[in-house]
Amino acid sequence: MARKIIALIGSGMIGGTLAHLAAKKEMGDIVLFDIAEGMPQGKALDLSQCGPVEGFDARITGTNDYADIAGADVIIVTAGVPRKPGMSRDDLLGINLKVMKQVGEGIKANAPDAFVICITNPLDAMVWALREFSGLPHNKVVGMAGVLDSARFATFLAWEFDVSVKDVNAFVLGGHGDTMVPVTSYTTINGIPVKDFAKIKGVSEDRIDAIVDRTRKGGGEIVGLLGNGSAYYAPATSAIAMAEAYLGDQKRVLPCASYVEGKYGLDGLYVGVPTVIGAGGTEEVIEIDLSDEEKSNLKVSTDAVEELLEACKGLDSSLT
Ligand code: LMR
Repeated sequence: MARKIIALIGSGMIGGTLAHLAAKKEMGDIVLFDIAEGMPQGKALDLSQCGPVEGFDARITGTNDYADIAGADVIIVTAGVPRKPGMSRDDLLGINLKVMKQVGEGIKANAPDAFVICITNPLDAMVWALREFSGLPHNKVVGMAGVLDSARFATFLAWEFDVSVKDVNAFVLGGHGDTMVPVTSYTTINGIPVKDFAKIKGVSEDRIDAIVDRTRKGGGEIVGLLGNGSAYYAPATSAIAMAEAYLGDQKRVLPCASYVEGKYGLDGLYVGVPTVIGAGGTEEVIEIDLSDEEKSNLKVSTDAVEELLEACKGLDSSLT
């Protein structure tokens, strides 16, 4: 059987981390693309030389030519600019929209059968634009956000309760902005609802609220600490989990920015929802019952995404 091809568009910190993870896991051969000459080639060469030490066998090549992503099974897009301290993800809209246009056209011309995972911010708008520019079916284009946001929520809860992260099943819905909706009613510590667990551990509701707030601002916290760039290890790990779910037809239920039509009161919007990922791409969006408060929080979050899409349409007349 032919080896799978994983194309990574953008060879910055996330792109390099993705390449390393994909190679270590022997997910397939890796094509690292960037418009910056020398950068993807240099990183590919460096990473290739990890193979003999770590014992992985993956061909890693760097390129500045979209033709080299031909036949890619999975494409993970990180191209574009990260925010700096003091900026919101939405401030990147204009600059990264132009990048998505080039990337979308590159995918359309060279790898129309790929499963495409977008990481570029502002995430929910960029995944929508990438889908529009690439013309791929909605089930083959998805945004990485919910896995990351849920991982942040789980990490903070595990620290608070002093339990293993492995037993925390946390869940975040909505757009990948500060209005995202960590859903405590569906978050459990090995099946025990988080609110009950908090009572057992003597953790106040205010502490849980503070954790919810920290989760919402989790990306910005790291941007502030790094000073010049944004998170890359956890975003890369999250996207790899999604890629593995697709390549292995795992039917995992992962929160990610999927195209939602006719569920959650939405009529064609990319936003974070639980999604079954298997060989068919995003095979099913799972609609869960929400309380009135959760519904209204989700509405605030999806309205913010709708506003961004309108801004995209104002910036590029080919988007309708
Ligand atoms: C994240 O959540 O880490 C990313 O969206 C990067 C950012 O700007 O916060």
